[in-house]
Parts: sequence; C-alpha cells; structure tokens
Amino acid sequence: MYPNQRNRRLRQSPAIRALVSENQLSVNDLMLPLFVCEGIHVKEPINAMPGCFRMSLDLLKEEVKTIWGLGIKAVLIFVKVSDSLKDNRGTETINPQGLMQRAVMEIKSTVSEMVVMTDVALDPYSSFGHDGIVENNKILNDPTIEVLSQMALSHAHAGADFVAPSDMMDGRVLSIRTTLEKAGFFNIGIMSYSAKYASGFYGPFREALDSSPGFGDKQTYQMDPANRLEAITETTRDIDEGADIVMVKPGITNLDIVREIRDNVDVPIAVYQVSGEYAMLKAASEKGWLDHDTVMLEQLLAFKRAGANFIATYHAKEAATLIC
Ligand code: PBG
Repeated sequence: MYPNQRNRRLRQSPAIRALVSENQLSVNDLMLPLFVCEGIHVKEPINAMPGCFRMSLDLLKEEVKTIWGLGIKAVLIFVKVSDSLKDNRGTETINPQGLMQRAVMEIKSTVSEMVVMTDVALDPYSSFGHDGIVENNKILNDPTIEVLSQMALSHAHAGADFVAPSDMMDGRVLSIRTTLEKAGFFNIGIMSYSAKYASGFYGPFREALDSSPGFGDKQTYQMDPANRLEAITETTRDIDEGADIVMVKPGITNLDIVREIRDNVDVPIAVYQVSGEYAMLKAASEKGWLDHDTVMLEQLLAFKRAGANFIATYHAKEAATLIC
C-alpha cells in the first residue's frame, strides 16, 4: 500500500521501463497480407486502404524481396479473380495455372524461405460473392468443403507452406487435412480462421477483391459478434480436425477472445487486424486526428498482450521499418 508501494518507481526511465516490460513487438510477429492481380506492371491502389495495392506477379516478386529485406517472414496471399472466371462452384480455384498457384510459384522461386500462406475460400471466385456454393439462396456446407479441399491441395502442389481456410464452413479443416495427408503432403500446415466473426470491418477488403456478397450477408457461416464461448468451441474443433495455427478475426474488437483462446488452447494463435481496422487509422491520421505510428504500434502490442503469437496486418511493412 502507498507509500510503501509506488507504482511509478518502475516507470521513471526508459531503461527501467524496458527492463520490466511484459510484452514486446518484433518483426517476427508480423505477417503481411498481399493482393495479387493479373497483368504486367500493374499496381492498383485500393481506395479505402491507402498504401495497399493490388499487384501483378512481376511487381509481387519485387515486393517480396523488399518485405524479406525488412525482416518479414510470412505473407498471406489473396487474388483478384476476373469476373469471366467466376462461377458458383469456384471452378477456377483448382486451376494449376490459376493466379493463386502462379503467385505461390513466383514467390517461392524468388524468396524460397518466405513462409507462404494461401487464402482458401470461394468468395473471390464465386459469382455470388459467397464463401460457399449457393443453392436457393443457401450456402451449402458439404459440397463446399470438397471444393475447398481440392483448392488446398492445388495450393500445396504449387508450393504453399500453409493453407489458410477463411470460409467458416463446418468440417473444412478435417477435410483439407485428410486430403493433404492422402496426397502425401504431410508437412503442409493449416492456419484456420477459427474464430472469424461476421463483421463490417471487412468492407475495404471486399472492395479490394470485388468480392462482396451478391445477396444477403455472411451471418449463416461467420460468427455472431455477441458470442464468446462459441469462439472456443470453433477453435478447439478446428484443432481436433488438424489445424496447426488458429486465428481470431477481426483483431481490435476481439482482444477478449484472443485472451480467452490463449487460456484454453496450446497451439499458436494468429490475429488478423483486418482491412477496416487499417482504414480507420489511415483515415483518422490523414485528418490529423490520431498519431499514426503511435496508435499503430499500440494496437499491434495489444494483440501480443492479449496472447497472439503473430499478427496478420496491412501495417506489417510500416511496423517493421519502425521497430527494426
Ligand atoms: C473471405 C475473407 C475476408 C477477409 C479475409 N478472407 C472477407 C470476408 O469474409 O468477407 C477479410 C480480411 C480483411 O478485411 O482484411 N474469405
């Protein structure tokens, strides 16, 4: 009790603060999501995500060299699929020469040590903009996971290190795991979007990939933001099904969930600081209302304190530059 205890004793200098600091953010904690598109020398800005671009494969190669040079060791790949290749069943997902497959090959042939994770979900490929096959305005579960498993297998053939199912269909992790094992891909990891909430924060991302749902919303498969226990159920089931890494998404609205899961499971946890979170900070700092770097680092550190092992963030390059 005061004055025997004075909390400020441990805060009086940068040196003592560093000594007693409980969490640190390092470049090892950062994963960069990348948007890939067709073409040559294409670098298209994304409206609500200043500083982020859709890039063609030639520029992607340069980008991954830069990223690796900054110390970032993992990327998460998303592709912008042209409308002419979209259909209800996501046929293009398993094209061995599809954009995702070529992107993986290009990255691996440029920086072979980079951890390459691929998004596994139908929405960028779906004529309905949904993460699953649609019938009578319903999203079908079991037929979808068959496609997702073949998609994951195709990514494994292309050289992906991890596949990252972001669709929230039931049983997809088990189906993908079984498919990979049968094909002899014993060492391909699965990073499962386990606790993925239905969220308005995905808006800018859907603009980036032109992947907004054509009807309805995603509440029949993504989680209700009201729920906490369900996040643990989803996550433990994914681990039982064969997930190596589990994810919570969005980040800043779900720090309690990150902690809850950290206290319940032993596998690594990723947090996805999503497009809308990025957009909010960019907008506020452009207006001069928030100090960009301070708020960015504060948020990233909060993910670590909540219990995340690493963070998928569009700020990865900016953060890596600041903390190096
Ligand atoms: C879709 C997917 C989404 C994101 C990652 N994968 C959007 C959605 O579920 O509609 C969002 C990422 C972001 O907002 O940065 N499978």
